[in-house]
Amino acid sequence: MLLEGRNAIVTGAASGIGKATAERLGAEGASVCVNYYSERERDDAEAVVSTIEQAGTRAFAFQADIGEESAVERMVAQAAEQLGGVDLLVNNAGIEKQVALLEMSLEDWNAVLHTNLTGSFLCLREAGKVMAAADGGTIVNISSVHEFIPWPGFAHYCASKGALRLLMKTAARELAGKRVRVLNIAPGAIVTPINKFVLDDPEAKHAVEEEIPLGRIGNPDEIAAAVAWLASDQASYVTGTTLVIDGGMSLYPKFV
Ligand code: BGC
Repeated sequence: MLLEGRNAIVTGAASGIGKATAERLGAEGASVCVNYYSERERDDAEAVVSTIEQAGTRAFAFQADIGEESAVERMVAQAAEQLGGVDLLVNNAGIEKQVALLEMSLEDWNAVLHTNLTGSFLCLREAGKVMAAADGGTIVNISSVHEFIPWPGFAHYCASKGALRLLMKTAARELAGKRVRVLNIAPGAIVTPINKFVLDDPEAKHAVEEEIPLGRIGNPDEIAAAVAWLASDQASYVTGTTLVIDGGMSLYPKFV
């Protein structure tokens, strides 16, 4: 097992990449705080907790809007107390919504930045304090290929993910002396609820598959496996960089 005895927080862990990651960390021996956003996701989050407990480690679900400072402070404090520390944070929670730039309301903009960027910052800061005061740790942000590929209709999303790239790099420099490694994983198209609008539309799905040299949309497990490795001692010399997991999407296959 890669992560025996480690204590993790995974945000947005009721579904998609967050769920797969929380379950994978549990299977690798970590105890996990399973963050979820609202009452609607409670049952799904509790199901993730049961899966992890069955694998033999501890887990608990914690409802928090990660863009709310006091909620994040409470979540990290409770994780540290209940698990006995926090040495791994997976900043996974994220939202996206297609809106043309010139029609984008301030509300649309703020909603995406609130979760994807401010939420990641708050969790990084609070969990980072616990790690810095203990034996160090690892922070993995689930970013996107849109931390470097522009995507019309998703300017707020791209802005949040691009910002996450330099937040990660700056944090990696600032926290290296405290034995905290900070990384991004940039997934391409993955089968998750965030992509439902594409997966449910055969034509749109086909268009996305055509953008991917490996010819298929990825699975959440293919991201979770990378989080487990990056968080483990096997990746002890890796910090300040982005691991792209996109089936080759960022090779721009349409550019001939
Ligand atoms: C988005 C997906 C999109 C993928 C590739 C991800 O960040 O969440 O909706 O399919 O990037 O464009």
